[in-house]
Amino acid sequence: MTYNVAVVGATGMVGKKFLEVLKERNFPIDNLYLYASSRSAGKILNYDGKEIIVEELKEDNIKNKKIDIALFSAGASTSKEYAPIFAQYGAVSIDNSSAWRMDPEIPLVVPEVNPEDILWNKGIIANPNCSTIQAVVALKPLHEKYGINRIVYSTYQAVSGAGVGGYKDLEEGIKGIAPEKFPQPIAGNVIPHIDVFLENGYTKEEMKMVEETRKILHDDSLKITATAVRVPVFYGHSESINVEFKNGFELKDIFELFSTSPGIIVRDNLDELIYPTPLESEGHDEVYVGRIRRDFSLENGLNMWVVADNIRKGAASNAVQIAECIINNK
Ligand code: A2P
Repeated sequence: MTYNVAVVGATGMVGKKFLEVLKERNFPIDNLYLYASSRSAGKILNYDGKEIIVEELKEDNIKNKKIDIALFSAGASTSKEYAPIFAQYGAVSIDNSSAWRMDPEIPLVVPEVNPEDILWNKGIIANPNCSTIQAVVALKPLHEKYGINRIVYSTYQAVSGAGVGGYKDLEEGIKGIAPEKFPQPIAGNVIPHIDVFLENGYTKEEMKMVEETRKILHDDSLKITATAVRVPVFYGHSESINVEFKNGFELKDIFELFSTSPGIIVRDNLDELIYPTPLESEGHDEVYVGRIRRDFSLENGLNMWVVADNIRKGAASNAVQIAECIINNK
């Protein structure tokens, strides 16, 4: 069986990656429709050797196309307005923005963690924040086996997470050109500010990690805190994750657990200086875990270093994996 697929935000950083990942994974496409803003209408993009014209996102261009699956990455306000319109015409939208993530009526899904939540969708499924996706892939098996009490996230996030504009700021910043997307220069710098500041002194990015982790792991009792930081790296988010468990553990059992958990590659051999880096994760869909060690300051504490390609597993690949689950459930 083949499906009619739409990509909304096709000209963007994640939109283009949707096309790459759909092709790589041989997603069974009948017709592919590409949408962006009026600025890009008429542009031509290539998919599988074919030229496809980008259409302006508007209802007239959606109806009558019998779209089955729409992959969205065009910002929250676009998703808020258009995902219900796609649903009205029978499509399931998988949305990469923050628009629907915390809506109790909308599943928030990482296929390795909570694929069962896809089943209760009503036409919209939210793709979590990039930093949350890679974290919960590593945390899920730990939570199941040892029961997590508290998580401390510290992130080191790539500029591509801020879209084409973020990427350009680093590329041009290296040449001494002032930033346009970020509030401070990112070349040769580190910016402890991602998304907007909230009244509680945290950024929205930090609170997304707190709230989305609880929703995906189905556990509102989890104590979580986060500091999210932008670093001058093009692709690949890195995270230091400190975890306190309810139960005791042996380090060797954690290595064993990760080696049999879906979507994880353990890169941890100190003798050979092996640990995950963002450059290594680039172009891959797995979550790389290393620097796995006991936190001696706690009774049941663990530290680890978790890295993934933010545009692939953190966005496009996770959404395409959700789409694969949908068609496999049909
Ligand atoms: P466009 O290229 O026409 O502006 P990124 O986050 O990498 O900058 O990409 C954002 C994507 O979302 C682009 O494809 C952009 O299209 C698209 N987009 C932005 N605003 C809208 C809108 N109002 N309607 C449809 N697509 C939009």
